[in-house]
Amino acid sequence: MDLIQAIQTRKSIRGYKPDPVPKEILREILEIAGRAPSAMNTQPWEFFVLGGEVLKKVVGGNVRNMKAGVLPKGEHSVVGWTVDSVYRTRQVELAKELFRLMDIERGDNDKRGEWMERGFRFFDAPVAIILTADKSLAESTPLIDVGIVIQNICLAALNFGLGTCIEDQGVLYPDVLRQYADIPDSKRLLMAIALGYPDWDFPANQIQSSRVPLDSNTYWRGL
Ligand SMILES: Cc1cc2nc3c(=O)[nH]c(=O)nc-3n(C[C@H](O)[C@H](O)[C@H](O)COP(=O)(O)O)c2cc1C
Repeated sequence: MDLIQAIQTRKSIRGYKPDPVPKEILREILEIAGRAPSAMNTQPWEFFVLGGEVLKKVVGGNVRNMKAGVLPKGEHSVVGWTVDSVYRTRQVELAKELFRLMDIERGDNDKRGEWMERGFRFFDAPVAIILTADKSLAESTPLIDVGIVIQNICLAALNFGLGTCIEDQGVLYPDVLRQYADIPDSKRLLMAIALGYPDWDFPANQIQSSRVPLDSNTYWRGL
């Protein structure tokens, strides 16, 4: 697949077919993605690849926690903006578009709850990849490297007809992951990626997220 086309067509997939993904394909994607650059070639990323019964148990634990009102709390925060910021505006724009596609009214708490549950189910993807880094590293040290490998995974997946959704929500119940996916305490949970064959009939997969114009965040100096 053409690289530019892959970058331009990748999008977050939030509805999947149940079809399993062969382990050899998953291995190939991770091998390719692992060609990512990293600070001083430290390669701080680690992958816990979940499927089958293990993934079912993690999903069950997540949903149980959510329904019991357990506060979701990750080991690494990706949110940290104020309500009056441009970041919040962009977040709301995305949520509105997803809710429009999914026919979820603003005040419909039942449907909003169902949507949240869907996130805790990894959008019913047959595979979830949990990205971790060793806790011997300072919290922020591996983040850029892991971010690069995450994008590589998402792009490489396209070559095999697979879709992905990078998902912070997937690591918000650390105890569940540690218990059912046997992830040791020495590993910091950084991010999840849901992965599988896209269900193109699923409404949220029509999403076309916007981007700010280049001239609003690019500052040319000496050019
Ligand atoms: C660090 C990170 C965390 C994310 N967490 C979630 C998440 O928890 N749930 C979700 O539905 N999408 C999540 N996303 C997907 C973003 O919403 C998505 O990338 C963004 O809206 C741009 O849309 P696109 O991926 O379709 O281009 C996350 C993406 C990133 C990079």
